[in-house]
Amino acid sequence: MRTPILAANWKMHKNVGEAVAFVEEFLPLVADAEGVEMVLAPPFTALDRVGQTLAGSAVKLASQNVNPEAKGAFTGEIAPGMLVDLGCAYAIVGHSERRHIYGEDDTLVARKAAALLAEDIRPIVCVGETLDQREANRTFDVIGGQLEGSLAEVDPARAEDVVLAYEPVWAIGTGRTATPEIAQEVHAFIREGLAKRFGERASQIRIQYGGSVKPDNVYELMAQPDIDGALVGGASLEPESFSRIVLFDRQGSA
Ligand code: 13P
Repeated sequence: MRTPILAANWKMHKNVGEAVAFVEEFLPLVADAEGVEMVLAPPFTALDRVGQTLAGSAVKLASQNVNPEAKGAFTGEIAPGMLVDLGCAYAIVGHSERRHIYGEDDTLVARKAAALLAEDIRPIVCVGETLDQREANRTFDVIGGQLEGSLAEVDPARAEDVVLAYEPVWAIGTGRTATPEIAQEVHAFIREGLAKRFGERASQIRIQYGGSVKPDNVYELMAQPDIDGALVGGASLEPESFSRIVLFDRQGSA
């Protein structure tokens, strides 16, 4: 069984006070949540205090990025071991904003994923096509290439520790969610690709959907056989909204 994983990606939002206030309001709202994994990815600056505020709860901490090197002269960067220090269980890598705004490629994403696993942090590896690529019927080529490249350095023995996130770029922050059918089609394709790479272990790997997930569309998405969670931007910024995303899923899958 794949435990659904609902993760909040706050991107470059919330100072420390706002982040802590979110957690204090959010935890009571999800105190009864069972059978789901909940993850918060605040900005680096809030990781420490958010981690302290989450202590003893079921909600896990994630970073939004990482540098693959262990230490050294990399001004402005954060190493996997530093995230361990702050109690991160997960780290997002290869988000489309990192790929498109900061020019990250699959080779770098692959190094990040491997460096995280070496420190026992689970990578959430993002893939997704742009609107141009979808309209040119290149979706499967693009996703296939990103999968192969981004997972190239993952030891198959650790495959279950990897989470995939399918985030069609045209659905991020646009209010334009992929229909459950479109998302499922790509998720099934991703699982086939994972099976080629990791064999039977692919059936245990969680694949999240991301892109304009909201409380009122999460259930339909989660009802699809290969959608195992959500990576949520805008709708994760308010405790009430994100808790409804988490709880809706719990009620729906009960
Ligand atoms: P939105 O939920 O705001 O569309 O963002 C999705 C995303 O990029 C999560 O990583």
